[in-house]
Amino acid sequence: MGKGDLTPTAITNNLGTRFIGQRVIYYPRLKSTMDVARRQAQQGAAEGTAVIAGEQTAGRGRRQRAWLSPKGSIALSIILYPELGYLSSLIMVASLAVVHGIEQVTGLKPQIKWPNDVLINNKKVCGILVESEVKGNRVGYAIIGIGLNVNLNLSDLPEISSIATSLSQELGRNVSQLDIIRCLLAEIERLYLSLPSGDSVFQEWRKKLATLGKRVQISSDKTVYDGVAESVAGDGSLMLRQSDGSLTKIVAGDVTLLK
Ligand code: BTN
Repeated sequence: MGKGDLTPTAITNNLGTRFIGQRVIYYPRLKSTMDVARRQAQQGAAEGTAVIAGEQTAGRGRRQRAWLSPKGSIALSIILYPELGYLSSLIMVASLAVVHGIEQVTGLKPQIKWPNDVLINNKKVCGILVESEVKGNRVGYAIIGIGLNVNLNLSDLPEISSIATSLSQELGRNVSQLDIIRCLLAEIERLYLSLPSGDSVFQEWRKKLATLGKRVQISSDKTVYDGVAESVAGDGSLMLRQSDGSLTKIVAGDVTLLK
């Protein structure tokens, strides 16, 4: 094993967290870390258990889309048992943790495209998926899934090369996946634990949004909206000002920036 290899011990050693990443389940190759994490959560795995894959063969994204996770990318799912009131904040925790992790390890300055894509130079470097099981007013489990393009040559992936980037492509050199994963785990814990003490996660997430003040088109379910992304509500919804002056609250959707 070389220095920087992705082993559970290398990830967990001196991580300094209370629970996130204290148990790591690593697979060199896997269909999707979300499925393993869900099974683990249903069996009562410890909060903070992380499922990590060297590559995924059936990675999935939001809205039933496929997510490409070849070797060189990070595919990570984390099991949490939050109170219901914090569920909508998990996408903010995850996207901010990714922004901080990238900033700390590489010095690059990413932005967030509402609700939770992380961009560098307007291209997507990371996608985040939160899946949960809610029964009544109780969260059975929540899983944060993070797919981050670290050392990828986008010219090998023509299907996404016009809209996606990677850390190595932006920097012109490879980046340690181990350093990024450790930083992500520590940041997720720090931000998650800060949720009960106020709205600082929301406020910082809002400031990092590249979307606010821009003219956008949003596809949400079967409806397409045009307007100006005016603000975000505390639950993460986007407030869209349409040309007739009305303000529409959009809970989830895909944003395209209009010229
Ligand atoms: C998106 O932008 O649509 C979200 C992409 C989420 C991808 C990650 S990779 C780790 C985890 N496992 C999956 O199958 N998906 C998420």
